[in-house]
Amino acid sequence: MNQTAEVFHRPALLHETIEFLQPRSGTLVDCCIGGGGHARAILDVLGSGRLLGIDADPEAISFARRQLRKYDNVELVHSNYCRMADIVEDLGFAPVTGVLMDLGVSLHQLRSPHRGFGYNVEGPLDMRLDPSASLPPALTLLRRASVPRLRQWLRDFGQEPFANRIARRINEHKHEIKTTKDLADVVRRCVPARRARKTLARVFQAFRIITNCELENVQKGIQVALDVLVPGGRLVVIAYHSLEDRLAKQALREGRNQGKVKVLTPKPVRPGIAEVLENPQARSARLRAGEVLS
Ligand SMILES: C[S@@+](CC[C@H](N)C(=O)[O-])C[C@H]1O[C@@H](n2cnc3c(N)ncnc32)[C@H](O)[C@@H]1O
Repeated sequence: MNQTAEVFHRPALLHETIEFLQPRSGTLVDCCIGGGGHARAILDVLGSGRLLGIDADPEAISFARRQLRKYDNVELVHSNYCRMADIVEDLGFAPVTGVLMDLGVSLHQLRSPHRGFGYNVEGPLDMRLDPSASLPPALTLLRRASVPRLRQWLRDFGQEPFANRIARRINEHKHEIKTTKDLADVVRRCVPARRARKTLARVFQAFRIITNCELENVQKGIQVALDVLVPGGRLVVIAYHSLEDRLAKQALREGRNQGKVKVLTPKPVRPGIAEVLENPQARSARLRAGEVLS
């Protein structure tokens, strides 16, 4: 992988993804193209097949387009992956033999101040994966929310033990909060210093999930993927927190109970120590895979 792609994102569980996806003929859909790291590994073994790459983030699409320009069997589309069935039909990309959903955000998104995802880089509190969409940024949602609503978001989407205290403090300061740093400063004042980093990660995760309807998208996206895959086709989902992973686990289990899916990963596949040392962002990655039976 070249330097630029490494800075944009470092793909997690790369070998395991290829092992479970078994890219071959037909179309592989990479629902979260990001910096194109997984896509390139797929393309290198794809043979006669084609790859359809999707991302909600226009910056990811332009970056991946440059990274993948040497391949002539790739199509990239700026969209929500929940639309993958329509995209496959519109572009004539059936049959789909594999779908990869590498969920969450890229390193580039987390580190870009203007995107507002990171608690340690100062920028407007935006957090939209697709800033060109008409959805409100995180700051608007934060300012509109009542204390009970903020508390619920922090509990349900951040699993934050200090949700009540943080929700009240955010509400008190909501008109002074404009940037990621302003929100981080308010949160830091609610917890002991030794807990600050984990609390900030949980609070920012909660606002990111709300801003992008992430859990609804994951749930719907997995169903669309299972519907779009031909029998024998494989789905690989890589999740980075337990809320996403639970949705992947439930969807595969339901498919199995209905006789439609063979679960290939009885337990989630985690990165080994060597990968985590090389790529600390991979530490929370959990891969689940299934094969469509009918
Ligand atoms: C972890 S990164 C993917 C990294 C990529 N696999 C690579 O190797 O560089 C997740 C990507 O998913 C995209 N994403 C998240 N939710 C999405 C959605 N609902 N539809 C389309 N893309 C989405 C994000 O914009 C981000 O670029």
